[in-house]
Amino acid sequence: MNVLILGSGGREHALSWKISQSNLLKELYIAPGNAGTTELGRNIPLDISDFEAVGVFSLEKKINMIVVGPENLLVMGFVDFFKSHDHLKDILIVGPDRESAMLEGSKDFAKQFMQKYDIPTAAFKSFDKDTFSEAKSFLRNMNPPYVLKADGLAAGKGVLILNDLDQAYYQLSEMFDGKFGEAGKKVVIEEFLSGIELSVFVLTDGKSYILLPEAKDYKRIGEADTGLNTGGMGAVSPVPFASSDFMEKVETGIIKPTLRGLQEEGIDFHGFIFFGLINVNGNSYVIEYNVRMGDPEAEVVIPRIKSDLLELFVGVCEGNLCEKKIEIENRTVTTVMLVSGGYPGSYNKGMIISGIKKVNDSIVFHAGTRIDSGKLLTNGGRVLAVSSYGNNFQDALEVSYANADKIHFEGMYFRKDIGFDLS
Ligand code: AMP
Ligand code: GLY
Repeated sequence: MNVLILGSGGREHALSWKISQSNLLKELYIAPGNAGTTELGRNIPLDISDFEAVGVFSLEKKINMIVVGPENLLVMGFVDFFKSHDHLKDILIVGPDRESAMLEGSKDFAKQFMQKYDIPTAAFKSFDKDTFSEAKSFLRNMNPPYVLKADGLAAGKGVLILNDLDQAYYQLSEMFDGKFGEAGKKVVIEEFLSGIELSVFVLTDGKSYILLPEAKDYKRIGEADTGLNTGGMGAVSPVPFASSDFMEKVETGIIKPTLRGLQEEGIDFHGFIFFGLINVNGNSYVIEYNVRMGDPEAEVVIPRIKSDLLELFVGVCEGNLCEKKIEIENRTVTTVMLVSGGYPGSYNKGMIISGIKKVNDSIVFHAGTRIDSGKLLTNGGRVLAVSSYGNNFQDALEVSYANADKIHFEGMYFRKDIGFDLS
């Protein structure tokens, strides 16, 4: 098969790494990719939001399958575009159509869906500018902290958690006035849940599903989960508190009702569903759905999949996933993200990266890198994810940290306490 992967982050490098090992693979293309993916396939400098251009390229290279990394393409209707063109409609696509992608593309849609199908989630109500005064009285009747969520996609920045009621009123009015553009014109206000988060993933063909390894992601920039939210600073899989009993409850109470709900709504979902969960005293609640793999979760989950991922993807697209089996690596995988100084605020790009060749026993997934005149350079906030295997998360982290110390670029920062809350 000829496969095209869309995206340029650590998730896409991890997908490329795994797919490049498949016996079913003939040619692998990544658009636009990064310095890491060039070693596994051919990077194509396409503007992937130009669906027409992706279509032309796919026909030219006889692409059989497209794996969509980031959610924005899915929410923009990438799949719908391909399905509506006769010469493109037979290309297999891992990723849901626009309607299915609403699970991530609209928080209000996702919350109403969960409410309808009795899927545990924080109590909520949605408001817009015309219902500002009702929103204020709803907030007044809640206990702090106050959780405000822009309805639409806001590049991971659309959730505000505020301790002060006046701040909540103020931020709400800012959102209605366009702080997050169109995405924030509708706002979900919800109850704050206190617990420990984890990410659970399934692959589904819309009828059956395969449970992938769960992971825990560390989102804050600072140690002990302090400071600003980032795209993710590290991850661990498996998650020690996600015992088989716990996961069985997640399957029964959350995953199966979600699949059932999708079917009842007539939503034909092909791809990854990412359940962002919070464990409150042993009970899981859905914080959010995503319609793609997580990042940096992909950098720990994918290395734990022993089966041929491309074969599973064929099942996802062709609707015979129930015939496929997954084999999972028992060992733990951890990843530590090396980021640019200043991230998630402003940071420099184009710093020279050295030391990668000295790494042993870790897989270095590139998140934001490029090559210029033979030099490896930083090209984003998150730069490299150092993933390692171990018999437990402490052992795996030891390897990740030993290798992180061999890598250098000006301003490089990483959290030294990934896994701190798991012991
Ligand atoms: P989201 O973009 O929905 O994943 O939210 C970003 C982060 O905000 C989550 O990963 C949680 O850490 C936090 N968060 C979102 N909703 C809630 C909630 N209802 N209670 C507590 N924390 C939340
Ligand atoms: N690591 C969280 C995400 O991918 O959204």
